[in-house]
Amino acid sequence: MSVLLDHPIQALSEYVGHASVSADSAFDDGVNGARGFAQSRLEELGFSVDLIETPINPVILATRGDPSWPKLVIYGHYDVQPPDPLDLWTSDAFIAVEREGRLYGRGAADNKGPQIVHMAALRRVLKQNPDLPLHITYLIEGEEEIGSPSFRGFLETHQDRLRGDMLLVSDTGSPGPNQLVVTTGLRGLTALEVKVRGPRQDLHSGVHGGALMNPLQALMRACSELHDADGKVAVPGFYDAVRPPEPWEREELSKLPTTEEEYAQFLGVPNFHSPPGYSPLEAIRFCPTLEFNGVGGGYQGEGSKTVIPAEAFAKITCRLVPDQSAEEIAERVKSAIVRSCPSSVEVEVEVKGGGDPYVVIPPGKPGSTGEESDLTKKAFPLVEKCVRKSFGSDPLFLREGGSIPIIRDLKEVAGLDALMLGLFTNEDNLHAPDESFHLGIMSKAIDAFEEFFLNLT
Ligand code: BES
Ligand code: MN
Repeated sequence: MSVLLDHPIQALSEYVGHASVSADSAFDDGVNGARGFAQSRLEELGFSVDLIETPINPVILATRGDPSWPKLVIYGHYDVQPPDPLDLWTSDAFIAVEREGRLYGRGAADNKGPQIVHMAALRRVLKQNPDLPLHITYLIEGEEEIGSPSFRGFLETHQDRLRGDMLLVSDTGSPGPNQLVVTTGLRGLTALEVKVRGPRQDLHSGVHGGALMNPLQALMRACSELHDADGKVAVPGFYDAVRPPEPWEREELSKLPTTEEEYAQFLGVPNFHSPPGYSPLEAIRFCPTLEFNGVGGGYQGEGSKTVIPAEAFAKITCRLVPDQSAEEIAERVKSAIVRSCPSSVEVEVEVKGGGDPYVVIPPGKPGSTGEESDLTKKAFPLVEKCVRKSFGSDPLFLREGGSIPIIRDLKEVAGLDALMLGLFTNEDNLHAPDESFHLGIMSKAIDAFEEFFLNLT
């Protein structure tokens, strides 16, 4: 009997068709639809599926196999980012369309395509070997794109069901179809929202200007003091816990096929601005950042308006690297902002959560403990071999700039080391208009994972 997973492109198209935007409750039907879709695929694969209720979107927890077998946990997320700005999409964000070897649609790359890759490979393997001696627990959540607010609570209640020998994740990137990456680290994240309040209401700047501190001015000054001219973060203690990369990590990075010129061109910037001692390509993977994601206040309409705004805001996030702690950095940034705001305004800094950075040292590399599970010790060289066979070149082992905060939580709570094979690329436009998934990577990755699952036990 043929099942949808025998036709991975069709399966991915249907999955993309469920508009599962977790940030916006107007998309609840799509969120439920995507969860139902993933559930059905897992049932087709012979998994027994539970839906675990959370305060927001249920987590899919599914298992197959005998608990005495080696235990693999596979993570994915069925939610996606909002499609905005809609008018910049070439075709509808939630109607998957194939063009020039790519499948376009929100979530095609992040993270629905990579999930279909794992499932389609499992379909091939389990069809031939229904008794494959590998216990698999699937964990697919629906809140990753909003920071996984329910996940800690879920983990605490269900950690017994998540114990295993290794975690498999494909929710990270690679340079392209000719160069894959096994992701060995993820940056952590902390988010802060700053509000500066001045007068009790907006004021005429002619009538009152000169008498009081403008909240926008106070905010801009405080913000400008968070970096020095070199581009380093100027918050006291910000870099204290930063662990420098191992020499082998710098060496791996130097093998990246991307040149700085190509990268600048891709970004559309005339030159780079990375901290001293780090090339731009190193800075993404090895350095922490402090970024302004949104600032506002005052008049935003056409023309000019002579106003002193009553308040101003800034949304800030920091990307963190080992061994920084999200909680500690949030406190440091918060006090730096409060300290540099004058007493003539009121400042409030709210910490909006985040997660700690994650790093896994591949078994056998300098710095590894040798205490990894047998499955982990087998899986890292195996994935290297499978990638070489399907893609024609060895993967690089590199840390990543992006964040999946729960991977660190899973390590802490369930002891799982993560094997992460990057399947999306910069050209896939994650979180942006015209997101797509490279179908060549998809097909080769299914072959690679077929080989991987077959040989893992
Ligand atoms: N799949 C990404 C994480 C990612 C992006 C890893 C690029 C590697 C390269 C994930 O879905 C994501 O976007 N995460 C957010 C986390 C946030 C919402 C807590 C991120 O990194 O901004
Ligand atoms: Mn993702």
